[in-house]
Amino acid sequence: MIEIKGLVAGYGGLDILRGVDLSVERGGITCVVGPNGAGKSTVLKTISGVLRPKAGSVTIDGTDLAGQDPDVILRAGVAQVPQRNGLFAKLTVRQNVLMGAYVIRKRRRHLEERYDALAQTFPILASRPGVPAGALSGGQRRMVEFARALMLEPKVVLLDEPTLGLDPASLTVIGDSVRAMTDAGTTILMVEQNVRFGLSLATQATVLTAGTVALHGPAGAIAAHPHMMELFFGGARPGEAHSAEAGAR
Ligand SMILES: Nc1ncnc2c1ncn2[C@@H]1O[C@H](COP(=O)(O)OP(=O)(O)OP(=O)(O)O)[C@@H](O)[C@H]1O
Ligand SMILES: [Mg+2]
Repeated sequence: MIEIKGLVAGYGGLDILRGVDLSVERGGITCVVGPNGAGKSTVLKTISGVLRPKAGSVTIDGTDLAGQDPDVILRAGVAQVPQRNGLFAKLTVRQNVLMGAYVIRKRRRHLEERYDALAQTFPILASRPGVPAGALSGGQRRMVEFARALMLEPKVVLLDEPTLGLDPASLTVIGDSVRAMTDAGTTILMVEQNVRFGLSLATQATVLTAGTVALHGPAGAIAAHPHMMELFFGGARPGEAHSAEAGAR
């Protein structure tokens, strides 16, 4: 579904991603994990077009869309739920969700049908449509953000840290919602700081450290990988060790 090769991207003159390869299989849940500052959000921002890569390709459903504007990528079927709360606090649940369709000019009737369909998965759309988003709990806000991303019936949804700041009780709801999205045929690429949660939900996983891919494979194998602890809590990072060796030669 998404094939990333040799992705280099950063801010100003600084490269954060230093040649990242990543593949996202259709219909699956791919989870990117890694220490703070590894570049996880940068990967998602580069895919969604918020950030222009310096090198590399981002092939979405067969077309290289690296460096295209965010609205082109959205129209190609990739919707992003950013790491920080992206709802308008003063607008209602309904207004926020309908805003997900701003990029297209569909008939109002169609948007309302889509809204009602999404309410099957996210009951808050039906139970509290007129409540301002700012009055919701963190878990409820996530549901509204997911629904907003799904308004355009995307092929892929990018989720950045869906459980960040939520209480443990909300994890189940988030997990169920992510599975419901894949059951409906949507492919998921997520970044997650709760490694245990992310890997238990995912089919495939990638471990990113310091802007390079340290491990990639089936989520279960990554969770059980002997290097996982070292990668997260210091010690030798394969990417760094590798470049240090290369430099010594
Ligand atoms: N807009 C920006 N301008 C400059 N530097 C940035 C910007 N956004 C991120 N960075 C830097 O890029 C690096 C990678 O950031 P990124 O947000 O991709 O990390 P992350 O893996 O998502 O981390 P976290 O777990 O904290 O969300 C960090 O060192 C960060 O300070
Ligand atoms: Mg991040």
